[in-house]
Amino acid sequence: MKRKLAAGNWKMHGTNASLTEIAALVTAHPAPGADILLCPPATLLARAAVLAADSAVMIGAQDCHAAASGAHTGDISAPMLADAGATAVILGHSERRENHSETNELISEKAHSAHAAGLTTVICLGETLAQREAAQTLEIIATDLHASLPDSATAANTVLAYEPVWAIGTGLTPTEAQIAEIHGLIRSLLSERLGETEAAALRLLYGGSVKPGNAAGIFGIANVDGALVGGASLKAADFSPIINALEATA
Ligand code: PGA
Repeated sequence: MKRKLAAGNWKMHGTNASLTEIAALVTAHPAPGADILLCPPATLLARAAVLAADSAVMIGAQDCHAAASGAHTGDISAPMLADAGATAVILGHSERRENHSETNELISEKAHSAHAAGLTTVICLGETLAQREAAQTLEIIATDLHASLPDSATAANTVLAYEPVWAIGTGLTPTEAQIAEIHGLIRSLLSERLGETEAAALRLLYGGSVKPGNAAGIFGIANVDGALVGGASLKAADFSPIINALEATA
């Protein structure tokens, strides 16, 4: 039976003082009925991993370089993330695609490198508002999915997050029918690519303005296996009720 996943993305938020939030999460969820992954900034990874060791909270990173090592000033490789205690990495977040001009091909290379380092990848994809209004959503999802998923992807090492760009940090969310449509599409595209069994086992997260107040509704939608949460993952008091809502559907 596939475990649902509540993943938190702290983005460029958090200093040493925020580690108390991770400690609070660890204490609040000693034996959760769903997987919990928290992705703090790289500066906190090693300390977060120590804090969460032997707990149900997994620690992940927010990006990695495609190469394992080399002359890439300022970058961090997948083996380095694993060495710091991360077990997962978010790749292809729309903020990386937008702010760092990341292409599907680069994301696929990064994911391949992350898999080689033993990391689980949380690969993000989603349409902009302009693309949705131009009725290009289905095409964008299909293109991005195929091009950003490396051949090394399996249900065990890959999670996909559907994050409509217009829903991230805006308080806006798609309708339940819109989420169901895209998650159903992703599941069927995965079936063609990986075969039915792997596709059914691979976890599909929804991301974009998930809050304690709307989580239960979102988790009730077909083919939603969890969430990728930004703002509401910063405080354990907000993230915990989202985890509880996910457990209730597991
Ligand atoms: P949000 O961010 O929950 O703050 O909308 C989600 C994300 O970017 O993963």
